[in-house]
Order: sequence, then structure tokens, then C-alpha cells
Amino acid sequence: MTPRTALDAVLTALRCPVCAGPIAATPPGSSVLGCPQGHRFDIARQGYVALLGGRSAGLSSDTADMISARRAALSTPPYRALREAVAHAVASELGECSEPLVLDAGCGTGQYLASVLDQCADARGLGVDLSKYAARSAARCHSRAAAIVADLWQPWPLADACADAVLAVFAPRGYEEARRVLRDDGTLVVVTPRADHLRELIDPMGMLGVADDKHDQVLAALSAAGFGSVTVGTVQRSDEWSCDDIVNAVAMGPSAFHTAPEALRERARALCDRAPAVTVTTAVDVTVARS
Ligand SMILES: C[S@@+](CC[C@H](N)C(=O)[O-])C[C@H]1O[C@@H](n2cnc3c(N)ncnc32)[C@H](O)[C@@H]1O
Ligand SMILES: [Zn+2]
Repeated sequence: MTPRTALDAVLTALRCPVCAGPIAATPPGSSVLGCPQGHRFDIARQGYVALLGGRSAGLSSDTADMISARRAALSTPPYRALREAVAHAVASELGECSEPLVLDAGCGTGQYLASVLDQCADARGLGVDLSKYAARSAARCHSRAAAIVADLWQPWPLADACADAVLAVFAPRGYEEARRVLRDDGTLVVVTPRADHLRELIDPMGMLGVADDKHDQVLAALSAAGFGSVTVGTVQRSDEWSCDDIVNAVAMGPSAFHTAPEALRERARALCDRAPAVTVTTAVDVTVARS
């Protein structure tokens, strides 16, 4: 499948971000999507489409450099293990479901979505992100993945009950919208860092720590959004990280917005010079909630 055919495979799930009407190629086969009220959205050369209603100007989202740092970080053993764990959680929830739609809300590079699609042979994937660099990457992450640019803080430009599973991996919350777009008995998989996550890097690299009650906040928000059954697993491990691994893990996150790349590299070098190898903890909660 090309990015365009992957987009065509999820078109019925998309909605106009202005009027919430259905959208289709207008005229059929063209690279413009439109709704019956005349709102129009160009499909980019790279295969994604921006479905923005005009209220999202000024919000920051991941830059091209952050996306390439993320792609490298997510290829290292700890993040590969986490991608496998997420994919396994989704695959066991989807069971025998035919051509399920898996939505990755705040998809970044699309690597988590690709891992899910690898484990779910006939699933279709849709990555959603405010960053066009993320959407570009996600549209190419897997032959069955499509991608849209959309603002998850606004009503999602997606049909009610269109998705079988939604992922929210280190991503903005929006559990009410996740519930609306999930079919009855659909699954939301939320991945959040534990207080221990990357603890060896927090101070030396000037990263933001994780609040002790982060997971309680997630559970409260899920309950407020009406999710019933919730199960929680933890993925925790320690690995020896190289200086590049450290730089990428910091450069893919919010620190990249306020620290120059050279300053990040200096700090990582100082950390790596102190010891022959830096052992780093990854620790996350994988929360599976059913609608
Ligand atoms: C910490 S990254 C996580 C990306 C990916 N899920 C992963 O774990 O590799 C958060 C992602 O959310 C996106 N994002 C931030 N604000 C957003 C918004 N309002 N709507 C949609 N996506 C947003 C960013 O561009 C970024 O790709
Ligand atoms: Zn419209």
C-alpha cells in the first residue's frame, strides 16, 4: 500500500475539522479532500492531510530535529521492548477483530503504531499529531499506516465509534475524545512515565521530573471520561546507554524547546566522561482501559 491507499482505507473515519461533516476526495481520485459544506484540505505530497480548524495556531509541536532524535531513540533496546509491550497489549485486546482501525493519538514518528500493525496482520493504522514532521514520518512508518495533522486539544476530526483501539503514548491527554471515537468495548492504551523513568538523567541533563501522582491523575482522568475496566502493567528495565542514546532521549522531548543541541551534547559528554558506562532506568506504566 502507498501512503495514499493507506489514507483511502481510513477515509470513512475522517471528519471535517470545521463542520464535522464526512469528507471524501473531491473530485473522486483527486488529492483534495472536501466535505459537503465546501471545506477543502489538500493531501500533502508525503501522503498525510492536515485537518485543522484554524484554532490551533501558535501551539508548539515536535520539530524535524525532535522527530529524528525520537526515531533514533525508539530504535534502541529499551524503547523497542516498550513498543513490543504496547503492540502485544493491543493485539491481545483486538483478538479476531476484522480489519480493525488503530489510532495513535500523538503518534510522533509512528514507530509504536508500526509495531502494532506488525503484530496485527489486517489492522489499519492512523497516526494523529499536530506536528507535520511527525505526520510525514507516520505516513511512511508502515504500509498500512495513514497520518493526519490534527490538534488533540480540539474535538478530534474523527467519526464516533470509528476506532477499535487508541494509543496515547507519552502524548497529550484527551480521554473524552478517545472514548467518543472508540467503538463499544474498544481499547485505549495509555503509556505514561513512572517517577523512576530516566532518573539517572533528570538532574545531570536538566530534564523535567515525573510527578509521583502522575498515574493517579491518569486513572482519575480515565474514570472521569467514563472508561470502566482498567488494567495496569509496568515495563521497567536498566540498560547501558551511550552518549548518543542520552542525547537522543533528551533531544526528542520538551527540553529540546529550551536547550541548544550543543549544550545538550556537552552535558551528555560530561556525564559519560564520569563513568565507563551510564546505566539508565526506563520505567513506564502501560494502562489498558476499555470503553
Ligand atoms: C512526547 S511526544 C510522544 C510521541 C510518540 N507517541 C512517542 O512516544 O514516540 C508527544 C507528541 O504529541 C504531539 N503533540 C503535542 N501537542 C499536540 C496536540 N495539541 N495535538 C496533537 N499532537 C500533539 C507532539 O508533536 C509529539 O509528537
Ligand atoms: Zn466542513
